[in-house]
Amino acid sequence: MRFGTIAAIASLGGLLFGYDTGVISGALLFIKGEFALSPTLQGMTAGIVLAGATVGAAFGGTLADRFGRRIVLVAVAALFSLGALLSALAPSFAVLIGARALVGLAVGVASMLTPLYLAELAPAERRGAVVSLNQFCITFGILASYLVDYAFAEVTGGWRWMLGLGALPGVVLGLGMLLLPESPRWLLGRGNPVAAGAALRRLRGDRADVDGELATLSGSLRADGATLPGWSRLLRRGARRPLVVGVGLALFQQVTGINTVIYYAPTIFQQAGLSSASASIAASAGIGVVNVLATTLAIRLLDRRGRRVLLLTGLAVMGAALLVLAGAFLSGPSRMLGLVTAGALAAYVAGFAVGLGPVFWLLIAEVFPLAVRGRGMSIATVANWGANGAVTLVFLDLIRLLGSSGTFLLLAGFTAAALAFGWSFVPETRGRTLEQIEAAMGGVAPLG
Ligand code: BGC
Repeated sequence: MRFGTIAAIASLGGLLFGYDTGVISGALLFIKGEFALSPTLQGMTAGIVLAGATVGAAFGGTLADRFGRRIVLVAVAALFSLGALLSALAPSFAVLIGARALVGLAVGVASMLTPLYLAELAPAERRGAVVSLNQFCITFGILASYLVDYAFAEVTGGWRWMLGLGALPGVVLGLGMLLLPESPRWLLGRGNPVAAGAALRRLRGDRADVDGELATLSGSLRADGATLPGWSRLLRRGARRPLVVGVGLALFQQVTGINTVIYYAPTIFQQAGLSSASASIAASAGIGVVNVLATTLAIRLLDRRGRRVLLLTGLAVMGAALLVLAGAFLSGPSRMLGLVTAGALAAYVAGFAVGLGPVFWLLIAEVFPLAVRGRGMSIATVANWGANGAVTLVFLDLIRLLGSSGTFLLLAGFTAAALAFGWSFVPETRGRTLEQIEAAMGGVAPLG
């Protein structure tokens, strides 16, 4: 199997993430009617996936360190498909909530494990692109969910199709993962060099210097000392800085407002004066398309230009776009405001998609030492889902309190803080092997 095919199958984990966080906005319009839901219960229906994902992410790392990356991904795909089918068939609201919680658990594990597995498989010089296939699938999943929501909006019981169709990529991921090799790095870490060599040969082909790569991996594992994972190792030298980078970027990825922009885009457009339903649907789809396209740009550039430059440039674009939005909303609704808003929102999403979006998931897969990679990524991912939920909870109140302009200004402030944080703490990892990055994080060798 070619490496491209392997990476494409594994990155389907991102599709589960994107599709299932995106699909609910359309489905909820019909679910609330069918089960006569109060606003609180509607909030719960949307929020349960975020809550489940936070819990799933917390356990994902330990499971992946203990049982291996591959088998946990297979299990997660099965759990996800089961949850999606159960949501589609739910005879009662209680079953629906339970099923959505299962989906959330699976999404949480997949969200950290997909980039982790991809990073451990990829050759160093292509790792940025390979890991960011995950982010591409997230954005594609969000866009696909809008289209599915749109397609089934007029169908009776269409929400069941919207939720149920998520099972499809889950089944493909699960079956596909059965055919893929385990991560050679994890196998070595478990003291199984023979299996690690076989896995590496499947990934790199017969002509590559597999023995050389294996020797380098083993050498760095020995230098690392302990191969037994444990939470306390996260506090040791070599894991502390990754923790700061991972959790910092996780929080900034959410508090700079990406999900509020994606999911409230129609509302934002309405406030700006574009009030027809078709205009707001077009606006959401447009934002989704920009997100996908700009992510492909990141995939092309991450290994050529490096992570830092894309992160910092993307943040600068996001910040400028937020300032424009804050200024624009000081005037009343008008056609002009509608156009400025559309342009600024597109620029904001493009800035996120070339920088903070892919770079967060890529860096957390790169910076942690092998012995605690799974657990370290778990912590960063829990912070990300937790912040995602918290922002969703407070966003509408924030707009009520600060107004649209004030809210955009606040998001611009967080973006400026993210820029300062990225500048000061985020290392450049382009072209380095995970083992070189590990040595540099522990202060053993510079990253150059
Ligand atoms: C973020 C998600 C977000 C998505 C949008 C991801 O990197 O983690 O919260 O919905 O990007 O493209």
